[in-house]
Amino acid sequence: MRLDPTRLRLLPRGRYLLVVDRRSGHWLSLAAEEEPFLRLLAADGLAPVPAEVRARVERLRRLLVDGKVGVDDPGPAFDRLNTLILKLTNACNLACSYCYDFEKVEHARVIDEETAQRAIAQALELCPERLWVILHGGEPMLVWELVERIVLRGEAEARAQGKAISFSGQTNMTRLDGRIAGFSLDHDILWGLSIDGPAPVNDALRVGHGGGGSHALFAECLRRFPRFVRSCGVLSTITALNQESLLATARHFRDLGMASWDWSLFQPIGRGRDLAGRLQLDARALGRGWDALFAAVEGREFNGFPVKPVTKYLDNFLRGPGHNMCMRARCGAGRDLLSVSADGTIEACDCIDPVGPLGGLGHMAGGSLASARAAPLAERIRSRDMDRNDPCADCIWFALCGGTCLAHAGDIDALWPEACAMAQLAFDRISLSLAGSDALIDYAGSLR
Ligand SMILES: C[S@@+](CC[C@H](N)C(=O)[O-])C[C@H]1O[C@@H](n2cnc3c(N)ncnc32)[C@H](O)[C@@H]1O
Ligand code: SF4
Ligand code: SF4
Ligand code: SF4
Repeated sequence: MRLDPTRLRLLPRGRYLLVVDRRSGHWLSLAAEEEPFLRLLAADGLAPVPAEVRARVERLRRLLVDGKVGVDDPGPAFDRLNTLILKLTNACNLACSYCYDFEKVEHARVIDEETAQRAIAQALELCPERLWVILHGGEPMLVWELVERIVLRGEAEARAQGKAISFSGQTNMTRLDGRIAGFSLDHDILWGLSIDGPAPVNDALRVGHGGGGSHALFAECLRRFPRFVRSCGVLSTITALNQESLLATARHFRDLGMASWDWSLFQPIGRGRDLAGRLQLDARALGRGWDALFAAVEGREFNGFPVKPVTKYLDNFLRGPGHNMCMRARCGAGRDLLSVSADGTIEACDCIDPVGPLGGLGHMAGGSLASARAAPLAERIRSRDMDRNDPCADCIWFALCGGTCLAHAGDIDALWPEACAMAQLAFDRISLSLAGSDALIDYAGSLR
């Protein structure tokens, strides 16, 4: 394999030098003294250098090639659909102030059952082995009987096609009952639960249609079904109001005994558009909040508890890009992911603004997932390559970051500045920490 030194970027990390392949995300940590020899790699063959220097440069070249750093490595392709988001309804019993997607129950749509089943059957045909179906909304637990029928038919269709199928979902968990918990356990439906923090934090924005906070409804479900609720991962929406209290929020959910904690960074679309002035994230304040959280993870306070705003960066750094479809150069939208809305519209990703320039690949009525995936707009979405654009074009973290979410950025060649600042901070802190201690390796090990 031929080494291409133009792919390499060097970053001093104390006594070490981090050598990153910015195209594949593979990296090596070398002694800092190797830097002059590494720099000769690009010039090797041109400059007349003594034999011992040439030998040292050659040793480095072999080390890099063996570690697949600086060599062409296409990695996994992700060119087949494997994930389908089904927005079962845009109805919701809550009216969170920032919500990008809800309607009062009486004005809302529910997905046509046959459409949902056809979407799953088509997705199974397109997927290589296993299909992940994410039940979404609005609030999916409002249409529970429909959920059961969709899951049962989906499982039967998967068996008929000789494929595997897994269901997960995102819920406000205010309508949990024994039937929902039992069916979810029987069919391995993994639920993520949305709540923003203790009552005063949560109730500032996660409110009912009458305006009152929703925390009490969650607390009641936790009281009635403690094991089931605690088996769910928590997702908190981060806005200007709670961006600096990430550590307190993570501690709160760890201490409640929840399975994990994750964040959804505020996107000013839908109803959130009207509150952008008040809720818009500030990159520096968010960075301060993340830094405090990271210090606690590094200080081993969270061993055994997945703090996903840290692990999503840490996993990519340790395992390489791919597993997280939002943090790789070619993200999932319109590639390994499609989303079907309650009205049957097919989107490349549910985060894409349906009324924006990237919304609407097609419709299940008169169309199919395959035709939507082949549509010119889907091709355009898949053509996103931030490696062509500043500031990503020369960024050391490009492969590990991917250039931020195109839905949040708003267009194919646009960048989401807050996520860019976050990624730079996170990869800087993580690489520095790994050069000086085993704390993050121990943390990653504690989560296995
Ligand atoms: C739209 S909800 C649908 C599922 C369910 N009703 C729930 O609350 O989990 C999915 C997730 O998106 C988050 N969310 C809603 N509006 C958002 C926005 N404008 N920016 C970022 N996340 C948002 C919610 O807090 C929730 O965690
Ligand atoms: S975030 Fe979820 S619970 Fe809140 S209004 Fe939107 S759909 Fe409903
Ligand atoms: S559009 Fe954004 S949220 Fe959707 S898959 Fe791509 S990076 Fe992820
Ligand atoms: S978005 Fe920022 S951190 Fe990510 S690759 Fe581009 S410049 Fe680098």
